[in-house]
Amino acid sequence: MIKYLGSKRLLLGRIVEAVAGAASSPLVLDLFSGTARVGHALKSRGLRVISNDHNAYAEVLARGLVAADREEVEVPARRLLEDLSRLPPRPGYFTETFCEQSRFVHPRNGARIDAIREEIARLALPADLEAVLLVALMLAADRVDSTTGVQMAYLKEWAPRARHDLELRMPPVLPRIAAGRCAALGLDAVEAARVSPADVAYVDPPYNQHSYLGNYHVWESLVRWDKPETFGVACKRIDCRERGSDFNSRRRCREAMRTLLDAIDARVIVASFNDEGHLPREAMESLLRERIGARGRLEVLAIDHPRYVGARIGIHNPRGEKVGRVGRLRNVEHLFVATADAPPTAIRELVPSSPSAIPSEVRDGSRELESIAGA
Ligand SMILES: C[S@@+](CC[C@H](N)C(=O)[O-])C[C@H]1O[C@@H](n2cnc3c(N)ncnc32)[C@H](O)[C@@H]1O
Repeated sequence: MIKYLGSKRLLLGRIVEAVAGAASSPLVLDLFSGTARVGHALKSRGLRVISNDHNAYAEVLARGLVAADREEVEVPARRLLEDLSRLPPRPGYFTETFCEQSRFVHPRNGARIDAIREEIARLALPADLEAVLLVALMLAADRVDSTTGVQMAYLKEWAPRARHDLELRMPPVLPRIAAGRCAALGLDAVEAARVSPADVAYVDPPYNQHSYLGNYHVWESLVRWDKPETFGVACKRIDCRERGSDFNSRRRCREAMRTLLDAIDARVIVASFNDEGHLPREAMESLLRERIGARGRLEVLAIDHPRYVGARIGIHNPRGEKVGRVGRLRNVEHLFVATADAPPTAIRELVPSSPSAIPSEVRDGSRELESIAGA
């Protein structure tokens, strides 16, 4: 999967457990789908998922990895990926913008990305098939990029992987499921919640001021292929200045969350939230309690894990010398499960960590489960 801030790689097992356990064969609405990793895991368990994200690259990831069914796209996608792999390099907008004016991808690979992207546009394919090819191209470019995982900046020297050849591979598209068709939306989360009733809504918004569009603008331009004007050293799309999210604003995020929770038409809301964000755990708990009312049940799972690699590497000046202080090395991710009309549990318990209960990926993490009775 693509390198992505806030991707739920470490929490995936817990999220799937919480969602799948919420109802029998629930329809799940993932309102902030990002890499589409969560929807992909849920579909692989046979659950019907609607994945939504307001950025175009994320909608394409959701379309290719969740909405598309293998039976429909695999044969033509494999054939097309072979054809696209053989195209001669043809430098264009991508090479000029992201390999010469900035240095996210080596120009040798950039010229192939240009040729492949132009051909995908020329083919004017059905949406799911086109999405699968674009996902293959994004994943291929991600494997040879020269960043630490965000596109606010690139490395001063080419990363060793940037010199590897771009290689298109068939993405892990899942077979059709018996529960019905999955779908991908590209809406603001509130709008998606209003148009898509579900049994379970999964809420994983940005938790701080860093805009996903700014952090992943190269994917947005590659997917939209609108060749926009850019600004700054990172060559960000000009619309990064206007397309914001209320969840990135300390001042507006609480109200944005309240509006969103009100718009959700689902009996169960599963939300993940990180302890470094604008909304502290207590605020999130009180908003969820307000939403589910006195007869609802709220459970909170806290998982402690290492922070993303950039935090551990620390801050360096342009000469590669370490400057400034390295921040926190660990953080706590909370998983809230709010169920309306659920019999409140009679207990308020705190189960201490037991090493065997820790998912293998969270090797040195600790875990606590609190089951909080309804108000
Ligand atoms: C924490 S990430 C989600 C990560 C995802 N669960 C995963 O595992 O990859 C938050 C996502 O919310 C999206 N987003 C931000 N504001 C939004 C809004 N108002 N409506 C819809 N999506 C939004 C961002 O594009 C980003 O992909």
